[in-house]
Amino acid sequence: MAVLKINGETHNVDVPAQMPLLWAIRDVVGLTGTKFGCGEGLCGCCTVHIDGAATRSCITPVSAADGKDILTIEALGGDKLHAVQQAWVDLQVPQCGYCQSGQLMAAAAFLAKTPHPSDDDIAAAMTNICRCCTYGRIRKAIARAGGVS
Ligand code: FES
Ligand code: FES
Repeated sequence: MAVLKINGETHNVDVPAQMPLLWAIRDVVGLTGTKFGCGEGLCGCCTVHIDGAATRSCITPVSAADGKDILTIEALGGDKLHAVQQAWVDLQVPQCGYCQSGQLMAAAAFLAKTPHPSDDDIAAAMTNICRCCTYGRIRKAIARAGGVS
């Protein structure tokens, strides 16, 4: 049994301690905004925040998140759009959209630590993969959300 505090709600989940957190979020709790891509910690589709840190949930066991504050894309902005979500809308960032929840979660955690990033900061920090190659718009949107463009 683990206690997963997701988006301010507590879920007591009866799952193996080594189950990937992503599976628990999607298949047990039923929040499907967080996506499965590679399953190996490489693409970033599965990014959530754990105690504010961007974390690839496909390679994070449930035991590592037990009792911690988990935030998923469903609650990123609370009852309004987060600054990165608004910038994504303004600049029409997504193409197919599959990677974008992970991109947004990574971007939000990055801006929380680096509120006014340089282009080099953004390029270095954003390691999520996008098969549609929306990288240019992602970087512009992060700069906009950070108030530097
Ligand atoms: S699905 Fe987790 S990093 Fe690719
Ligand atoms: S928008 Fe299609 S994978 Fe990124």
